[in-house]
Amino acid sequence: MKVLVVGGGGREHAIVWKLRQSPKVTELFCAPGNPGTAQLATNVDIGVTNTGALAVWAVQNKIDLTVVGPEAPLAAGLADVFAQHGLRIFGPSQAAAQLEASKSFAKEVMQKAGVPTPRAELFEEFEAAKRYVEEQGAPVVIKADGLAAGKGVTVAMTVDEAIAALKECLLDERFGSSGKKVVVEEFIKGREASVMAIIDGTTVLPLVVSQDYKRLNDGDQGPNTGGMGAISPTDVLADEQVEGLAAEIFIPVLKELWSRDIRYVGFLYAGVIVDEEGVARVLEFNCRLGDPETQVLLPRLQSDLCEVLDAAVSGKLSSIELSWKSEAAACVVLSSRGYPGEVDDGKPITGLESTENDVFVFHAGTTLAEDGQTVVSKGGRVLTVAALGETRNRALGKAYARLEKISFDGMHCRRDIGGGAW
Ligand code: GLY
Repeated sequence: MKVLVVGGGGREHAIVWKLRQSPKVTELFCAPGNPGTAQLATNVDIGVTNTGALAVWAVQNKIDLTVVGPEAPLAAGLADVFAQHGLRIFGPSQAAAQLEASKSFAKEVMQKAGVPTPRAELFEEFEAAKRYVEEQGAPVVIKADGLAAGKGVTVAMTVDEAIAALKECLLDERFGSSGKKVVVEEFIKGREASVMAIIDGTTVLPLVVSQDYKRLNDGDQGPNTGGMGAISPTDVLADEQVEGLAAEIFIPVLKELWSRDIRYVGFLYAGVIVDEEGVARVLEFNCRLGDPETQVLLPRLQSDLCEVLDAAVSGKLSSIELSWKSEAAACVVLSSRGYPGEVDDGKPITGLESTENDVFVFHAGTTLAEDGQTVVSKGGRVLTVAALGETRNRALGKAYARLEKISFDGMHCRRDIGGGAW
């Protein structure tokens, strides 16, 4: 099969790496890809939201299956455009991707479907939102309704912080149209886990559970990021609980979407918080795999990813059972100085060359310098170093040992992935 992966981050490098192992894949492409995917696939220089150009390229190159990594192309309707061209694609339609692209849509669907989720109200007007926050008190969570590159959520510990976040969205328009509506959500104290599934329209195949570490610095301090590392399995939720969670979360949501004539085909990610009483509630949905969670999930997956996704696009997931390796996995993200704010690009990266069994260096914010050979940084999250091990600690030990060999100016990572009570 000729397979195209859309995206160019660490998640997509991990997807390409896993697909490359499939005997079903004869040719593999990644648009736009990165220097890491270039070692395993042919990179195609088309941006992820250039939906028309991607479809034309896929038709011309007779692509049998397209797998979409990030949310932006799905929210822009890539799956719909591909379907119009008769192309097979694994990723939800624009209507289904609203589960991630609109927090208020996701809340409404969850409430109708009876999925446990923190209480929330939607606001478009600053004064009304401010009054509500003053009545509710803090801590409270403020969420920009639309896509905001992982930066649209503020966990406000004081009313003043909450009002500042409302002002940023509704008055200062920091997130443009994505922040014209805000969801004000009840704060739940607990630990978070990432629960993902592969869905073919009717059948839900849950993946094992993972946990990401969202804050920039050790001790869960500093600003929220897209994720500084991940582990799988996690103590927050056991892998054995996923079937129950699928029945409680994914199936009711699919049914609610059906009632609106929306069919969901793709990965679906539920960000779940488990409170001190052990009650799990859904904080958010993403219409894709997590990053960096994918970098620990796919090394644990034994099954042939191409076979599974091909079956999903054909609506035949019910005939598939996923198998998993017995090992644990962990990963650590290497970021640029300044991330999640402004960063300086173009820092040469050394130590990428060596390869070891069960240790993986996935590229994200990297590119080639003008000499066409030197790999340099380009963006905030530069690399993910992942490893498998008999235990989580062994996996972490291998990942940390490998990242010691990598260096670039301003390189930052958390030193406590896998630990802590957060
Ligand atoms: N790591 C969080 C996410 O992918 O949304």
